[in-house]
Formats: sequence, C-alpha cells, structure tokens
Amino acid sequence: MAADMRAGLVVDGGSDLKMILSYVNSLPTGNENGLIYALDLGGTNFRVLRVQLGGKDKRVLDTEFEQVSIPQGLMFSTTEELFDFIASGLAKFVRTEGGRFSLPHGSKREIGFTFSFPVKQTSIDSGILIKWTKGFAVSGTAGKDVVACLNEAMERQGLDMRVSALVNDTVATLAGARYWDDDVMVAVILGTGTNACYVERVDAIPKLRSQMSSSGSTIINTEWGAFSNGLPLTEFDKDMDAASINPGEQIFEKTISGMYLGEIVRRVLLKMAEADALFGESVPEKLSTPFLLGTPDLCAMQQDYSSNLEAVESILNNAIGVRSNVNARKVVIEVCDTIVKRGGRLAGAGIVGILLKMEQDSKGLIFGKRTVVAMDGGLYEHYPQYRKYLQDAVDELLGSEISRNVIIEHSKDGSGIGAALLAAANSKYALKI
Ligand code: BG6
Ligand code: GLC
Repeated sequence: MAADMRAGLVVDGGSDLKMILSYVNSLPTGNENGLIYALDLGGTNFRVLRVQLGGKDKRVLDTEFEQVSIPQGLMFSTTEELFDFIASGLAKFVRTEGGRFSLPHGSKREIGFTFSFPVKQTSIDSGILIKWTKGFAVSGTAGKDVVACLNEAMERQGLDMRVSALVNDTVATLAGARYWDDDVMVAVILGTGTNACYVERVDAIPKLRSQMSSSGSTIINTEWGAFSNGLPLTEFDKDMDAASINPGEQIFEKTISGMYLGEIVRRVLLKMAEADALFGESVPEKLSTPFLLGTPDLCAMQQDYSSNLEAVESILNNAIGVRSNVNARKVVIEVCDTIVKRGGRLAGAGIVGILLKMEQDSKGLIFGKRTVVAMDGGLYEHYPQYRKYLQDAVDELLGSEISRNVIIEHSKDGSGIGAALLAAANSKYALKI
C-alpha cells in the first residue's frame, strides 16, 4: 500500500492508487460563517443538508438534513436523469428553508458537493468523473465535469446556487472531523464502497511540484479501493470480479467493502451446498441469484447468540429461501465470520499502510503523537465484528506502544458538515471573520 501510494504521487497513472489531488490545501479552522448547503451523493443514499455556521465561538448553530435512498434504476440511467433527480431533491429541500437559517441580503446560496466517486479535480470547485464505481453505470458522465452536470440540472429546476466546493466523501469526512479535532490526519469510508484520504506534505508529491510552492500540506484522495498489488484472492473473489460490471477494477473494494461481503458469502455457501450438501440433497434455487444475500444479513446473523440460531434460520429463509438445520447454521456463521474477518483485517492493514507511509516521510511526526483516523460509512458504523477485526489488525501490526497513540474513531455524518465547511472556506459570499 505504502509503495503504491508513493508511485501514484510521482505521476498520474504511476500505480493502481490514483492519489488524487483534492485542491483542499487548508482544513477548517472554526472561523467559517454563514448559511451553507451540502449535497452528498454516496453509494446508497443521497443527502441534502443545510447548516448555519456561527464562527469561532458558536461553531454549528443549526443543521437540518434530508436523506433518500438512490432508486436502483437511477444507477443505470442517463447523466441528465441522475442529476435531475439530485437537483430536484435539492430544490425541494431549499424551499423548506425556515427563519432559523438566514442568508445575508444580496448573497447567493452556496453548496458543498460531496461526490463519492473517483474524480480528477481540476480546481476546488470542478472535476471530471474518471469512472463510476460501486455498481453505478450511468451513461455519459465519465469524462464530464460533474459540477457542470449539477449546474445544468439546477438550471433546469430554476435553482440558482453556486457550487463552492467539490469533494470526495473521504475528504469531506476528514474536514468534518478536523473541525472538532486538530489531530485528525486520515479519513476512511467503509460503506457500500471504500476509500481513504490523508494529509500529505506538498514536498512529498512530485507530480505537484510544477503547480504549487513546495511548502505546506494538502489532502490526497488515495482511491484505495483500486488497490490490488499482491492481494491474495480466492476463487470466489475471482469469479465475483469476472461477473461484475467492472472486471479487474476496484479489487480491494471488492474484498473489503459492504457492497460485496454478502455476495462473497453467498458464493461460498453455494459451493458448499453443491459440493457438500450443506442445505440437504438439493441446492436451494435462490442461492444462485447474485447479490441476494446482503452485508446487513451477515451482520444480523452474526448478532444471533442463541444456542439454536433461530434468527440465522429465519434470515437464511427470508433472504435466500434456504431451510437449515443447526449444524448448517453454525457453518454459515463461520463462513460469514471468515469473510468479515478478512475484510476488517485488510482494512486495518490498509490504514497501517497509510500511517507507515506518513511516518516514514515525516520522520517520526506521526507515531510520536496522538493521531486520529476518522471513520464513516454504514459498514464501519453498523458491523461490530468488522470494527473489532479492523482494530485488532491495527493493534497487532503497530504494536501496543504505537497503537496507543493511534485513535480510530467513528465520525458520524462528518462528511455533510465537512463539505459545508469547505464550501464556506471557499465562499464568495459568506462573512469572513
Ligand atoms: C456516510 C457518509 O455516512 O457514508 C457519506 O456521510 C458516505 O459521505 C457514506 O458516502 C458511505 O456509505 P454508503 O453505505 O452510502 O456507501
Ligand atoms: C468508491 C469511490 C470512492 C469513494 C468510496 C467510498 O470507492 O470510488 O470515490 O470514496 O467508494 O464511498
């Protein structure tokens, strides 16, 4: 991971890790002020948020948000359809703005846009979609500036807003967490997909030298989901990848993130049903349907501590039409645990890879002090076993002396506030104190 990070910092395309420049060169200070909107397009949900920032002493005066799940069909729609859906949700939300939120006379509403896909940033408020990930296959967006797409859709809705910052969800999470804690250096999303960003010294980014002075720091979006170098893969991983809409891509993501863990388990169970009659003489028909078993199902089964695993039986029956005896249920739990343990431990190893790279390049400035890794995403938030395996791997790899200083903590919904803060910092209208 550390070697691939370095290679990606030398030149674009230098490794699987894109190491994207975020154009976020300063993090929130607490001085940000005014009414700012944020729009967050994740893997599963789309959220809009407004926040009234009060500057240094008052910080966040008020927030309101709405969340809708992204209809499955939109993931395969056209660019216009997807962005019209987003802009119309935003327009509806803006219309509910009440008196507690105030926009200074003569200013325009501004928005921080969290877009959770790989984007080649061209400035803090523009960037070109490199490719879709996480099961999205919207036509016509790759190669386009996603802010321009949003602006056009807002125009079609009659909505007059300025996009002041375009950020990845990891970058927004880092900014949101840093607002409250100066020691946050890394942010990781473990949800439908996975990714990490971190604070990098400008003089450690050879591909940036021509563009900026070589002092200070910036945030690098690693797009670590694309990592694959030396990852040990099983036949189940390889088959799932081959059947996916993006074969050969996002291999780390396919091994550790929420979109795929259930599918890997389903493939293992199918093989056990076929080869070892796990569920009796006949193979349950629905067990052959891709993505029928979700990561939330694995999680719910792993929380069943009863002796005859009745919850496991009912989840298997509801999700994949499988009737099971107690022995089979125990095997299912073991399979879930194996896949989740591998995912959590690899995610932990990835975090250690980033920290080691930072430590080696800063000659002792990371491990000698408190360093916080801000975590978000449904998988991390809702799967206790995954969280524990991740933490165990970090502790084992770093050793107790160092890992004492490394705080891995959930930063709930930091990305909404984070995008708003970065938009405020880049605002044309907000009062600057
Ligand atoms: C949320 C963050 O908690 O997790 C989003 O606020 C992020 O910014 C999301 O994109 C990732 O989760 P999922 O499951 O929607 O991919
Ligand atoms: C995918 C996207 C990445 C995002 C991550 C988490 O890997 O490519 O940009 O940060 O999912 O949502």
